[in-house]
Amino acid sequence: MWDTMRQAEAFLTTRKEEETAYIGEMLGRILNKPIVVALQGDLGAGKTVFVRGTARGLDVNEQVSSPTFVLMKIYQGRFPVYHFDFYRLTKDDDPLELGFEEYLPGEGIAFIEWPERLPELLPPENLYLNIEKFYDDRGEGRRLWFTPAGAYASQVVESLIETITWRTDGSLNMQCID
Ligand SMILES: Nc1ncnc2c1ncn2[C@@H]1O[C@H](COP(=O)(O)OP(=O)(O)OP(=O)(O)O)[C@@H](O)[C@H]1O
Ligand SMILES: [Mg+2]
Repeated sequence: MWDTMRQAEAFLTTRKEEETAYIGEMLGRILNKPIVVALQGDLGAGKTVFVRGTARGLDVNEQVSSPTFVLMKIYQGRFPVYHFDFYRLTKDDDPLELGFEEYLPGEGIAFIEWPERLPELLPPENLYLNIEKFYDDRGEGRRLWFTPAGAYASQVVESLIETITWRTDGSLNMQCID
């Protein structure tokens, strides 16, 4: 009861690609059961960078590349990793015909870039991440908003926030804590 009411929305800022990948890697280390992670953000926001980091945290040895043209790629780590990119899909594509439901969620960890293209494919329990590019007097950065739906996703975001620490100069503390 309490679990389902828990809210663990979180917001993190990164200043470099490696920092976004690092947060992904920490998330990957935390994940211990199937979940769907939706990644929303403009072209070049850093969705694939984040998934690459997460795959590393899930012990995927292969290099993750963008699935934009193939719609889906599967990797093997501690869990199967399903990486979707719905950028090229439109409302006219029949989600049932695509046959993706069996992966959402399936036996593994599913990442969906451009989830807003086919919102009906997103299961009610999911971890929603919005990545937003911004510019300020220190240059370019990214804001990562995590919005968990469901008890497990909330728990994962809480654990992630506990793992992330910062240096006094505002950079992410990217030490590896094995
Ligand atoms: N703080 C940051 N976090 C992530 N990426 C960053 C950051 N700063 C700069 N970048 C750059 O932004 C780009 C992000 O590219 P990426 O392919 O991950 O975007 P994407 O959101 O997957 O886009 P698409 O919708 O085209 O798939 C990379 O070139 C990366 O080097
Ligand atoms: Mg991408």
